[in-house]
Amino acid sequence: SRPKVFVTRRVPEDGINLLKEHCEVSQWNSDDAITREELIRGIKGVDALFCLLTDKIDEGILDAAGDSLRAIGTMSVGYDHIDLAACRKRGIPVGYTPDVLTSATAELTVALLLNVSRRLGEGVEAVKDGSWGTWSPLWMCGQGLDGATVGILGLGRIGLAVAQCLKPFGVSKILYSGNSEKDEAKQLQAEFVTFDELLKKSDFVLGCCALTKENIGLMNKEAFSKMKKTAVFINTSRGGLVNQDDLYEALKYGEIFAAGVDVTSPEPLPTDSSLLSLSNCVVLPHIGSATMKARNAIFCTD
Ligand code: GLV
Ligand code: GLV
Repeated sequence: SRPKVFVTRRVPEDGINLLKEHCEVSQWNSDDAITREELIRGIKGVDALFCLLTDKIDEGILDAAGDSLRAIGTMSVGYDHIDLAACRKRGIPVGYTPDVLTSATAELTVALLLNVSRRLGEGVEAVKDGSWGTWSPLWMCGQGLDGATVGILGLGRIGLAVAQCLKPFGVSKILYSGNSEKDEAKQLQAEFVTFDELLKKSDFVLGCCALTKENIGLMNKEAFSKMKKTAVFINTSRGGLVNQDDLYEALKYGEIFAAGVDVTSPEPLPTDSSLLSLSNCVVLPHIGSATMKARNAIFCTD
């Protein structure tokens, strides 16, 4: 008989049709995230799970699946929501969707960087609410990329693509930190440095790394205090990389110039979160990979 697959969200029809050619598909057919109870119900007895980054796949869920579960696929490049050790123990391979979303996510990272560093959101507001009086020499000045040093936390696929996008803006130096030196860095003349050195020297610090046990809360009070007061922080990786209370303080008290984050913890942020009260902080709703092309590729490549 055909393998049974459980899909945890409403996804494009083409993707479902692709699965249906080979499998018996059951689905949480909603635009809202599946609850843990429904996930436990849905995963019981299936051969495979097709999930999203909003689904926490831990021991409890794997136990609920029983012995039938043979594969997991996630519609994301990040897999920090899946307990990989637990999957490995059970011999369950985990698939993910790198590459197809690299350009889209790099593009969003650059867009957010430019938005925040050149204060686009503030400017748009000022035009709308009439607080823009006249063209003014020192008003709305931000930070430019020309001649700047850009520090990338994690020069993986996305970090590398971001570096390539930024080079033509006249960036003078690209630094990166992480677990190891990367061959691909050479063509960009990107320099491998310690985390501390990256913080101290960079005009822009960009979170482009995967979230791991080791880097949870990496961007904390101490890290922000080492950055330049004129520096801009951008995060398009995972919210867990940042201690958000410390980010708030750093922005509020001028430890850094501004920040833009596409990812937070939790998601969404409660609308009364202190971070949302700041004029020098832009928070986006996790839309890094949200181009039609990338999302179609995530669901429909085989
Ligand atoms: C998005 O955050 C992804 O991991 O694909
Ligand atoms: C700005 O618009 C300028 O003309 O310098």
